Amino acid sequence: MLDLDADVSAEQLGRFTARVAALAGDHPVRDVVDLGAGTGTGTFALLRQFPEARVTAVDTADEMLGHLAGSAQRHGFDGRIRPLRADVDERWPETGPADLIWAASSMHHMADPDRVLRDIRATLRPGGQLAMIEMESMPHFLPDDLGIGTPGLESRCDVLMAEARAEHLPHMGSDWTARLTAAGFTIRESGDLVVDLPAPVPAAAARYAYATLQRMRAGLADRLTSEDRDTLDVLLADDGPHSLRNRTDLTVRSTRSFWIATPA
Ligand SMILES: C[S@@+](CC[C@H](N)C(=O)[O-])C[C@H]1O[C@@H](n2cnc3c(N)ncnc32)[C@H](O)[C@@H]1O
Repeated sequence: MLDLDADVSAEQLGRFTARVAALAGDHPVRDVVDLGAGTGTGTFALLRQFPEARVTAVDTADEMLGHLAGSAQRHGFDGRIRPLRADVDERWPETGPADLIWAASSMHHMADPDRVLRDIRATLRPGGQLAMIEMESMPHFLPDDLGIGTPGLESRCDVLMAEARAEHLPHMGSDWTARLTAAGFTIRESGDLVVDLPAPVPAAAARYAYATLQRMRAGLADRLTSEDRDTLDVLLADDGPHSLRNRTDLTVRSTRSFWIATPA
């Protein structure tokens, strides 16, 4: 799913890394840390943007780092990436000083994000930057009225996902501007990264829609109404007029928030 998301968001991510580069000005960006790197969406976008950079890709999951290392080899980036398995909740990993720290959809996973933000601040060289991205809800792919079930399925799923996440990811949807300021950062720029792909969407976006709705169906099984469960089953079926595989009205709409900040 992370790779499909990278595909769909590639253009916005390219523009965002270019903006980070513009704000870096004369400060050379050589040592980069991707915190909670996952399968490397940020790592690869950063390596493309900063030709002199080496990225330390930190993640707690061996599976993610293995996937990232495989992709790095395929893209010819392996010499410029240092995968580092570490749990940032335990302590700040041995990254060395950094010119840029990237944290995309990872900060809300941390047990104590305020401590991690202070560690980021201490790790950045003078003139270094933190680029942070957070997303509050899954992307939407469907028209409001599907022709089956009650309109508004994805909005109802958002509410249920937020309820489910509140139990194990309490920092999701935090006031990150306040937390960054309290940790001693000056915010240089913040705003939204918007993906808005009209129909017909590319094949990767259709696969992303399928993977997302499949995950909703599995993760929210106990919370969904029986009508919404049935609607999701019809959408995820291999065939039929309403199946995702046959629909031509899929779109991709997602909004993420971003912050580019420097130690105050
Ligand atoms: C939602 S994924 C985002 C991945 C990637 N940054 C992206 O934008 O696609 C969050 C990642 O953070 C990692 N993560 C969560 N808690 C962590 C921790 N305490 N230390 C290191 N990595 C962590 C997870 O393993 C996962 O790969």
